[in-house]
Amino acid sequence: MMKFSSQIFGLSVCMVGLLYVRVCSGGEPAASMVVLTDQPGIPVAKTMHGIFFEDINYAADGGLYAELVQNRSFEHRNRLYGWRTVSRNADGEIEVASADPINANNAHYLRLKIRSAGQGFGVANGGFDGIVVRANKQYRFGVHARANAGYSGELIALLEDESGKEIGQCKISGLKPDWQRFEAKITSSATTTNGRLVLLATAAGTVDVDMVSLMPGETFKGRRNGLRADLAQLLADLKPGFMRFPGGCIVEGADFQNMYRWKDTIGEIWERKQNLNLWRNPESPEYHQTYGLGFFEYFQFCEDIGAEPVPIINCGMCCQARRGRYVPLDQLQPFVQDALDLIEFANGPTNSIWGAKRAAMGHPDPFNMKFIGIGNEQWGQEYFDRYIVFYRAIKAKHPDIKIITTSGPHPDDPLWHFAWGKFRSGTPADIVDEHYYRPPQWFFENDNRYDAYDRTGPKVFAGEYAAHDTNRRNNLRAAIAEAAYITGLWRNADVVVMAAYAPLFAKIGHVQWRPNLIWFDNTHAYGSPSYHVQAIYAQNRPDVVLPVQLDAPLLPPQPFTGRIGVGTWRTQAEFKDIIVTKNGQTLFKSDFSKGFSDWELHGGTWSVADGALRQTSEAENVRAFIGDTNWTDYTLSLKARKISGNEGFLISFAHKHPDAVSWWNIGGWNNTQHGLEVPGATAPFVPGRVETGRWYEIRIELKDATVKCYLDGKLVQEAACKPTRALYAAAGRDARTGEIVIAAVNSGSRPLATEIKLAGAKNVGQIGTAIVLSSASPDDENSVEHPDKVVPRKQTVNVGKAQFTYLLPAWSLNMLRIPVEK
Ligand code: AHR
Repeated sequence: MMKFSSQIFGLSVCMVGLLYVRVCSGGEPAASMVVLTDQPGIPVAKTMHGIFFEDINYAADGGLYAELVQNRSFEHRNRLYGWRTVSRNADGEIEVASADPINANNAHYLRLKIRSAGQGFGVANGGFDGIVVRANKQYRFGVHARANAGYSGELIALLEDESGKEIGQCKISGLKPDWQRFEAKITSSATTTNGRLVLLATAAGTVDVDMVSLMPGETFKGRRNGLRADLAQLLADLKPGFMRFPGGCIVEGADFQNMYRWKDTIGEIWERKQNLNLWRNPESPEYHQTYGLGFFEYFQFCEDIGAEPVPIINCGMCCQARRGRYVPLDQLQPFVQDALDLIEFANGPTNSIWGAKRAAMGHPDPFNMKFIGIGNEQWGQEYFDRYIVFYRAIKAKHPDIKIITTSGPHPDDPLWHFAWGKFRSGTPADIVDEHYYRPPQWFFENDNRYDAYDRTGPKVFAGEYAAHDTNRRNNLRAAIAEAAYITGLWRNADVVVMAAYAPLFAKIGHVQWRPNLIWFDNTHAYGSPSYHVQAIYAQNRPDVVLPVQLDAPLLPPQPFTGRIGVGTWRTQAEFKDIIVTKNGQTLFKSDFSKGFSDWELHGGTWSVADGALRQTSEAENVRAFIGDTNWTDYTLSLKARKISGNEGFLISFAHKHPDAVSWWNIGGWNNTQHGLEVPGATAPFVPGRVETGRWYEIRIELKDATVKCYLDGKLVQEAACKPTRALYAAAGRDARTGEIVIAAVNSGSRPLATEIKLAGAKNVGQIGTAIVLSSASPDDENSVEHPDKVVPRKQTVNVGKAQFTYLLPAWSLNMLRIPVEK
């Protein structure tokens, strides 16, 4: 018999579990749960569940922001990106010019030099993967234009379908030598999902154009500079208590020029100072931020969906995981002033400088902002030196604003300990932002994370989290792990006041990060299973949580199984003497004199030199695999030497799937830490680095469900897959309806009959409701073709008394609502 105890809601509850033998499929209950319904309970913050928005994976431009033209003001790094010349029996040329632009923030524009106009000379823009327009719908076209003296023609804006057929147009006339803004409506006569906008001059001469915009007439809530209605609605449906914006690493920027400064993002769209997107990569080198979706739009959207705005502001530090540059302390004041001005922009009277700007944008009433975050994922003394300056300045003027600080990028590493050490020793903090991107197992193991947090210390914002399954798929397994974990957030509602999954959006074909909550392309959008978990919890958030006692079976861990591999992350290295043994027998021994064609390579530049396998590219996530996916209980030993680059070695073991992460990351995170990143087991990262030019001896021992990692003969990290509970639960009361709300998660592969007792409840209603998220396999995901494969089902539950048995389907989240007399 296995026993473990858990502190649930201040009570020490002894949970007695058997290995998963007390399984039944509907008869005798295998688990039990007692909800103490006569307790007053702990209030749950209205902000408990919210959303985290960052412009990653084309979430903003080409995503939530409804603009249909890409590179509308020629400010991309490649100034003509997205544009091509159109010549209809005409003769002319185009160029990007910058003399006398519409303003200094918008420094480039397009010059059309038309020698003979024929049936029109100009340019076309295919938007973001084609422009989608629908029949009989209106679109708002806008352009800044000026003509040199002598140009007497018009500008014609045409909508064309994929075959080049015109499906709508408008005409702009009255061009003058000075810049003017023109706007006109176009009604489309047909639908296309791959259309383009064509802009033609109709006479010889020179015409300058800029800020060429095409907006759907229908946006979320009909806002002019608005949001794509279907994507915004998916967010509104989550009923988020708050929205954090604009990120994420994007707040920090890769370098000083790339820092997110909110003042760049307000005013007329042509006045905003655009920037490169930090998330651009070789696949998306032109990823850009127009800031069309800027701070005003964020605030307005929050108001539209009833979410508290939670802006995160740059604290004078660039992303420490990238170039890690800091503004010197004696130059920090403009950043602090940005924070103060932001509060005035959001909340100040219309006769204040920044309140007047808000009013000029169409919102004289304050947005009533209550929270501000100082930096994202920052760490170390450098952060705290800057944070305290912000804290004091903000509290001096706005004592009621809740200040969110950060504990770094990881949930349990030395940086996190350093931060919490600060908060425990006098550094003031209202709310601490914690991030965890971890395997599903971590979520199952850590549902009690906050049980031991100091009730008198700062509150917690679980600001970014997502279960990363081995292949980083948005599958049911990850969603169920998150659902199990959220029961722990509810139970600790006196500590945890905000939580958000991250990232929020991914545009198919433009993905820098996975998994994500919502997937979309130009015509489809669907929630992942994790989306439905968020929705179920947020829509059923109780007003108070009640104590719960659980008695649940344990699920035995699986042994580590799979092949081996070597690899690097932005580093060149070489590997030799690679040996895999099991019970004294050799399963594999490297011999690179015969080449390396038996290795399965993923990225990188590989060769053999001096008997070693050498990797000489500095790309990320480069790996080579060999062996049998059924190998278990083996020892891998090898030698590795770093040649150059940022980090150390990625030594894979128990590896089954090319996309999977199952490795010992030696000298990861810019050569600062060693991390055991393996599904099923978790271990804290440890400080460590790898020296260039030195041969290291590495040994990884697998025994059943345990792993031990040695460097130069010294045990550095170890982990064991722990048994998982079959049942995770939390409960509360909905003050408005009087219902008892129970969140119950079955993490196992078999249905789990659970006896539920509502202790102290009188007059339990006959019929309750269950909202159930489950599917045939934990690997199931939603997709464009099958957006509803894993979606919640609502069903009735026969209750009628304070004790009843409920069957939790395998791999399921169940939200029960039981009417109980108030
Ligand atoms: O959510 C994606 C990124 O993960 C965020 O930008 C950052 O804060 C974290 O590292």
